[in-house]
Amino acid sequence: MAKIVVLTGAGISAESGIRTFRASDGLWEDHRIEDVATPEGWLRNPILVHRFYNMRRKAAAEATPNPAHLALAALEGDPRHEVLIVTQNVDDLHERAGSQRVIHMHGTLTGALCHACGFRWPAPPEMHHTDACPACGAHTTRPDIVWFGEMPYRMEEIWSALRAADLFVSIGTSGNVYPAAGFVQDASRAGAETLELNLDPSTGSDWFDEARHGPASELVPQWVREICS
Ligand code: OAD
Repeated sequence: MAKIVVLTGAGISAESGIRTFRASDGLWEDHRIEDVATPEGWLRNPILVHRFYNMRRKAAAEATPNPAHLALAALEGDPRHEVLIVTQNVDDLHERAGSQRVIHMHGTLTGALCHACGFRWPAPPEMHHTDACPACGAHTTRPDIVWFGEMPYRMEEIWSALRAADLFVSIGTSGNVYPAAGFVQDASRAGAETLELNLDPSTGSDWFDEARHGPASELVPQWVREICS
């Protein structure tokens, strides 16, 4: 059975109506990244940070999986392939498309985390800086999102899957944020074939054995049809 590790980024959810990150003006939904995606920004202004993620949580809940998410779920159902999705996305569109083996290396909007004691629980639709942690009672609750300067989740598991992979596929990511941007080299060194499916060439596009450029909603179903035929 061929082992496939699929890395996904914001581009796979773009056609579901969720905005990608890297706008040319360096702003993200009109906010500076350091204000809404760092622990320091949250400590400085938790009201703003909760408002920002409440808005993103609502947008993600209203979005629906597109043909790219659905094709990956169908691939997981093919008995000839063992698929692991490692996503940088904090939406749950892979799960809602039917994928079961999904690692959210940058956390998820559906989770809440206590910054003081590390307790995790399902996030309500709206979180507030006055919410108390259900475990320790501290008013230090935050979305369970990995911010800049923090360690992505489940890295040992991801590296071990990359070492064992026959094929590594990167979908809808600009290749700007490490460690995910280095996965193509990790997989390649371990002997995997590598394929990029992205709207335009990513920063590390040249490291892939093959790169195809276009919208994920077309490229991903087409690639899945090819390998399942
Ligand atoms: P980016 O916004 O950096 O890149 C999105 C990529 O998707 C770009 O290369 C686009 O060309 C491509 N793209 C856009 N629309 C597409 C479509 N319809 N089909 C295929 N590709 C499309 O997003 P990421 O690479 O995911 O981290 O960003 C990585 C990380 O940076 C995020 O997880 C987040 C961010 O800061 C944290 O929050 C820790």
